[in-house]
Order: sequence, then C-alpha cells, then structure tokens
Amino acid sequence: MSKKKTYFITGGAGFIGSNYIHYLFEKYDVVKVINLDKLTYAGNPANLDDLKNNPDYIFVKGDICDAEVVGKIFQKYNPDFLVNFAAESHVDRSIGNPEDFIRTDMYGVYVLLEASKKFGIKRFIQISTDEVYGSIDKGSFTEESPLMPSNPYSASKSGGDRLAYSYFATYGLPVIITRASNNYGPYQYPEKLISLFVTNALEDKQLPLYGDGKNIRDWLYVKDHCEGIEFVLQNGKIGEVYNIAGGSEKENIEITGLILELLGKPESLIRYVDDRIGHDRRYSLDSTKLHKLGWQQEHPFEKAMQETVQWYVEHQDWWKPLKSGEYLEFYKKQYPEEMPLT
Ligand code: NAD
Ligand code: DAU
Repeated sequence: MSKKKTYFITGGAGFIGSNYIHYLFEKYDVVKVINLDKLTYAGNPANLDDLKNNPDYIFVKGDICDAEVVGKIFQKYNPDFLVNFAAESHVDRSIGNPEDFIRTDMYGVYVLLEASKKFGIKRFIQISTDEVYGSIDKGSFTEESPLMPSNPYSASKSGGDRLAYSYFATYGLPVIITRASNNYGPYQYPEKLISLFVTNALEDKQLPLYGDGKNIRDWLYVKDHCEGIEFVLQNGKIGEVYNIAGGSEKENIEITGLILELLGKPESLIRYVDDRIGHDRRYSLDSTKLHKLGWQQEHPFEKAMQETVQWYVEHQDWWKPLKSGEYLEFYKKQYPEEMPLT
C-alpha cells in the first residue's frame, strides 16, 4: 500500500494553520497531517477539537526552534510537504517585545530548513506576508518589489522569507514562498482588527481605532488563503515567490463601520486612540503572477465578512475564554510540557 501524502504543518493550532488543516481534511480523502505547535498564547488546540480522534491527525506540542523535535518528526513520519505557519504574528506585540519574533520567525525557519535539507522534502512552503514590502502610497507591490519591512514583526518575517529562498538558491531545497495580505475568518485570536472589534462590539466594549483610522489593509478571507497556499504547493515553481492578495482594500474606519452595521451596534463604540508606532499606512499586493498560474479567489468580501461576523456571534464559547484568560489555565493542564512523541 502506498504511503498517504503527509503534511508537516507548523503553527497549525493558530488561526490560518488550523483553517488550513481543516481545509486539507475536507479536500483530500486520504491525507496525514502532523501539526507541530508550541501553543503560545495564540495556539489553541480547541480549533482542531473535531480532529482529535482522527488517526491521520497527529498533534505534537513543541517548538520549531528545537532541532531535536523537528528531526524526530522527520524520522518518524517522513513528510512529503512542510508548510511553515508557525510565527509570532502580532505587530503590536513585536513593538513591545521583539525577541520572540526574531527567534521564531527567523531562527525557527532556519531549524526547519536545516532539517528539510538533512532528511529531504518534496516542497517547503514558507508562509510569508505582504508586510515584508512595507507601506505603499499608490500602486501595488509585485514579487519583484524590494523588501522594506518597518517593524520588528515584518523585519523578522523578511529574514525568514529570504533565508528560505537562500536554501533554494544555495542547496536546491524545493522552497516556495507565499506573501499574503491581511486575513480574516473563523478562529482568529481576538487581538487583530476584525476579530477584536467584532468580539468587543458583541460585548458592548469600545473599539480602539488607531490614529485617524484611515490606514488601508487588503482583506483576504482565510479560506481563499488556504486554497491559494495549496494551489501554490501543487502548481507553483520552486524557488519562486507568490503574492496572495485579497483584492479588497479598505480603510480601517470602513471595516469598523461595517462591523457595527452587521451587528446593529452604535458608532459611539468607536474610540480613536494613539497611533501604533511606525504604523504602515497602506498595504497593497499585485497577484497577477498567481492568477496567471490559474488561481482564482472564490469568496467575495461582503459575503465572507457577513459569515465571519456570524461565526463570532455563534462561537462565543470559543472566544470568551480567550479574552478572559481561562483558556491558558485550562490548556496548560491538558498539554503538559513534555513532548508527546515517543
Ligand atoms: P497565529 O498567531 O494565529 O498563529 C501562530 C501559531 O504559531 C500559534 O498556534 C502558535 O502557538 C504557533 N507558534 C508560535 N511560535 C511557535 C514556535 N516557536 N514553535 C511552534 N509553534 C509556534 O498566526 P496566524 O495569523 O495564523 O499566521 C500564520 C502565519 O501566516 C504566520 O507565519 C504569519 O506571519 C502569516 N501571515 C498571517 C497573516 C494574517 O493576516 N494573519 C497574513 C499573511 C501572513
Ligand atoms: O498584512 C498581513 C499582516 O496582517 C500579517 O502578516 C500579520 O500577521 C497580521 O497580524 C496583520 O498585521 P496588521 O498589523 O495589518 O493587522 P492588525 O489586525 O493588527 O491591524 C490591522 C489594522 O488595524 C492596522 O492598520 C492597525 C489597525 N488596528 C489594529 C488593532 C489591533 C486598530 O486601529 N486598532 C486595533 O486595536
């Protein structure tokens, strides 16, 4: 019997990684997934509760910076593909405490690349971000645009991005890099603009809008992102970078207004607060390269936003504990420090 296609996913207990794992099990009848996640504050095994009795889903609590754990996974499961989602991902936290970002988003990528070189891999997908290009006033960045990251998060992601490329250029490792715009959808930790504002509004709490509220982000539904990543894994050319744009650029104040409208909440909940330090004004990606390869986005913004808001309305049991801190206590007991790999 031939071996099941095996995906080594890192950071799969987070927002995009957990959506991607769900996507893989929906898309393929036969697939095996190993999810290595450190379970930082942003990692939540509850995102994958529905898979806990599936023998083809293996969860390993561990750190991508730990070469021993990573090596054991390669030896035990001989994965075909590695998709690296693991990262410290929140810009505001990187401003206060950059160290973990540099460690995970750069050194962690190195550990995964080294193991992939040593044990072999058919595809290494590095999940990068549009933030590596920095801010742009007019027009959109292509994959050829220079990288000008401007905060510790985006700078460390740029390091990981280029390090991954260097393993292709230097050692021929089959690396592909994706750079996506701002994601929204189910299971997003309630600290990012949309997940925070929807959950705050549901609790009649204020929505802290930075600066003049006119910074622009390009919004990509997480399911489109997952499809884009899988499309690139299957069809992309090794050594290449692919932008994955949402095609829905909006000022933050527009997003805020839409959330309030969808929830029937008053504008008086908006509170203008001090701006984020070094706040990038606008992100914008040109995804022509990916479209030429044949990828099309499937979820229009308005409908996907409605569904996202509805998801948070219906899953208060998911996000309320995260906001209250109960979650950490609960899961620390469920997942003790030891790695469950024998
Ligand atoms: P997230 O913060 O929700 O999840 C990150 C996950 O990584 C968590 O489960 C966390 O426990 C895990 N993790 C952190 N450090 C780790 C370590 N050292 N070892 C193992 N696991 C570790 O992030 P997200 O929003 O799902 O983002 C996933 C990836 O996509 C990141 O690489 C991010 O840079 C990139 N990205 C995110 C967006 C976005 O809008 N959220 C857009 C483009 C790219
Ligand atoms: O662009 C892709 C990036 O998008 C990803 O690489 C990052 O991992 C992800 O966190 C996200 O970064 P942003 O900084 O763009 O996302 P965030 O949701 O933190 O902020 C979006 C915009 O909303 C930004 O202009 C800041 C603003 N904002 C954010 C928060 C949390 C507010 O005005 N108030 C807030 O409370």
